[in-house]
Amino acid sequence: MRLIWQYFLLLSAFLLSVLCSREVPRLTLRQGTSDHRLPYQRNFNHSVFFLHEETQTLFIGGLNCVLQVNLNDSHVLENITLIADRDQSCDKCSCEYAVTVIEEFQDSILVCGTNGEHPKCWKLHPRDSNHSSEIEEYMDGTGISPHTSSQNSVSLAVDGDLYAAAPLYREGTSLQFRRKVGSQTSVWMYDSWIMEPTFISAFLARRPEDPMHEKIYVLFREKNSDSSPEADPWISRVARVCKVDKGGSKSFFQNIWTSFLKARLVCGIPGESLYFNRLQDVFVLHSKDWRDSQVYALFSSSWNSTAVCKYSLFELDAIFENSTFKDYEEEIPSPRPGTCVKDSRSLPTATINVIKNHPEMTDWVRPIQKDSPFYISNNNYTRIVVDRVQAADEKMYNVLLLATDSGMIHKILEDGSKAFIISETRLCSSSASVQTMKLNSEKRKLFVGYPGQMSVLDLQKCQDYNASCQDCVLARDPYCAWTENGCTSQTKGGTQNIATGETHICHNNAGPNKVMRIKRDVSSSSPVPLKIEHTVPMGFPYYLSCPIESHHATYYWMHGNHYSPCQQTLSDCLYLIPAVSEADYGEYTCESRERDYTKKVKKYNLRDPELHTRSSALKITAQKESVLTVSSAVLFIVHNLI
Ligand SMILES: *[C@@H]1O[C@H](CO)[C@@H](O)[C@H](O)[C@H]1NC(C)=O
Ligand SMILES: *[C@@H]1O[C@H](CO)[C@@H](O)[C@H](O)[C@H]1NC(C)=O
Ligand SMILES: *[C@@H]1O[C@H](CO)[C@@H](O)[C@H](O)[C@H]1NC(C)=O
Ligand SMILES: *[C@@H]1O[C@H](CO)[C@@H](O)[C@H](O)[C@H]1NC(C)=O
Ligand SMILES: *[C@@H]1O[C@H](CO)[C@@H](O)[C@H](O)[C@H]1NC(C)=O
Ligand SMILES: *[C@@H]1O[C@H](CO)[C@@H](O)[C@H](O)[C@H]1NC(C)=O
Ligand SMILES: *[C@@H]1O[C@H](CO)[C@@H](O)[C@H](O)[C@H]1NC(C)=O
Ligand SMILES: *[C@@H]1O[C@H](CO)[C@@H](O)[C@H](O)[C@H]1NC(C)=O
Repeated sequence: MRLIWQYFLLLSAFLLSVLCSREVPRLTLRQGTSDHRLPYQRNFNHSVFFLHEETQTLFIGGLNCVLQVNLNDSHVLENITLIADRDQSCDKCSCEYAVTVIEEFQDSILVCGTNGEHPKCWKLHPRDSNHSSEIEEYMDGTGISPHTSSQNSVSLAVDGDLYAAAPLYREGTSLQFRRKVGSQTSVWMYDSWIMEPTFISAFLARRPEDPMHEKIYVLFREKNSDSSPEADPWISRVARVCKVDKGGSKSFFQNIWTSFLKARLVCGIPGESLYFNRLQDVFVLHSKDWRDSQVYALFSSSWNSTAVCKYSLFELDAIFENSTFKDYEEEIPSPRPGTCVKDSRSLPTATINVIKNHPEMTDWVRPIQKDSPFYISNNNYTRIVVDRVQAADEKMYNVLLLATDSGMIHKILEDGSKAFIISETRLCSSSASVQTMKLNSEKRKLFVGYPGQMSVLDLQKCQDYNASCQDCVLARDPYCAWTENGCTSQTKGGTQNIATGETHICHNNAGPNKVMRIKRDVSSSSPVPLKIEHTVPMGFPYYLSCPIESHHATYYWMHGNHYSPCQQTLSDCLYLIPAVSEADYGEYTCESRERDYTKKVKKYNLRDPELHTRSSALKITAQKESVLTVSSAVLFIVHNLI
């Protein structure tokens, strides 16, 4: 058994090494200044973010506190302390209050947390311009918050009701999705519907024209009931319930979902039997019309690769509407199981019986690109967020923001069916993994929660590509375009070529007359680097170096008519000369070539000191310099050998 499983793992790993061509981020960026972060006073095991549009603030729930932070400058407006109640019955328990849920619920903010393994919720009235926040005890939080922050939970507030998945017991058992509190009756799941689930996300798809048929979708992974050797132990799912579901009648299925259906969420390459089965995170790109909404799901696999699959919400929903019910052979009763009805208590028993015994759909939910994920990577991504941006060409582009397990953020352009990795940014000096991310699309900011701090990624940091029009265009960043003020976020009317990244567009912008055009050409051509002079005596080893800016460009050296490739390190393109000879003197240019653009990055001139004036003073400096160069060349070679 184990051998077969390992064989499949190896095969998958091999196929992936073929599929994951060198998907490297084009640029490696850094975000410096301290106003882009908020350090916490202590590390949080767990943190949750909630964006409150009304007050334009971000709520951060951590260990024993809730911070209310100004979206503009990440300044703490309010710091509310929450202390766990003392528990007499259990002296080994943690006595921390770890905040696990923050939701807007019935005109206030609901804050729930572990409360020393006795989950409890508070009602918080957020700070407004005149008043500071008020907080009051609200209710028992069992089934809303987990008992410890390491346990799984998901929550969703919709129209005055709170839906949640959290274990009822301290041991983590009885974990399922329920409607817990609010204006409607409480409803929960039938025990046998899922096995050892991990809930990832829940969302409502609004149908303003038809609220009766609004559905709540729940995404999770669970134990695979197929225990055959080649099957993955885990399987990912999407489930659906009606918002108006009140449960069954007093005599049958009282307070149990009468509309629950689930389907397999597939992400993989069916032709190769290669599946990514472990759902990690989900982001829903909602549209005005729910049918146009898209679900982005991040998966991992047993062979340590990750994939992003993209689903149409309409196609996903159609599976529930059209598929047969797994292992159910008889005629489908009416109303069809899963149909939303005004009063679920009066549903016929036959309909509920199918829900009870056969809630799984036969058909699978497949991504928009049926036979492959949108993006496969060897990076261990853990979180996903997607933004929609209007570029200079007035088209809309989707930009994915993926967090790696070492805390990097990858910014990825959705280029049709391909992924283009614009950049990777390190926001935190440690390599701690990201706990949570929230996007504020309006302000073009991504709030990223690490154990020790909250960091803000400015999504329109166009200064990073400001050196020339070509640098700006090659970036293919829909948030930025080249204008007379350089590379800026004011993209309207700017020069940009998201589709191909080709830079000829930088010269094509004919102005109203020829004079204007020449002026524009000058301003959009890249600056020629200053020539750096080096004097090196014959026979000494020497090297020249040139910084690698774009990981998608090819770097090389020109010396006279001679072309040589780089000795490439992670961040530099080097030219190594073991012993300087007559032919090595002269000019060197380090050039980079990317798409249709050749850039002169560095220029050097190597000179023979003997040809120089025979002033002894100069000779001494030359000797000093050569000693330095020898040692640095040796250092370099030693470094490379290691
Ligand atoms: C919030 O308040 C608590 C208790 O007063 C304090 O320990 C903590 O350092 C404060 N946190 C921040 C980020 O100001
Ligand atoms: C944030 O800045 C905008 C304008 O820059 C301002 O209108 C708004 O009041 C500020 N919000 C807060 C919470 O300070
Ligand atoms: C703010 O509070 C003060 C005193 O508490 C009150 O006099 C004033 O009217 C309040 N202002 C607003 C805008 O509510
Ligand atoms: C947080 O982590 C600390 C140790 O790292 C642990 O003692 C504590 O119990 C954890 N708190 C929660 C609420 O899990
Ligand atoms: C996956 O990663 C884990 C730990 O990082 C390692 O032990 C395991 O061998 C890896 N598996 C494969 C198939 O590469
Ligand atoms: C990927 O990251 C997650 C979260 O940090 C971690 O639990 C998991 O072990 C990592 N997987 C690999 C293969 O390193
Ligand atoms: C599936 O159901 C939808 C209604 O949600 C319907 O419009 C569509 O035609 C159905 N597709 C098939 C193949 O039956
Ligand atoms: C970008 O470059 C332009 C000139 O091309 C300059 O005027 C502008 O100040 C630069 N902007 C930044 C943020 O460096």
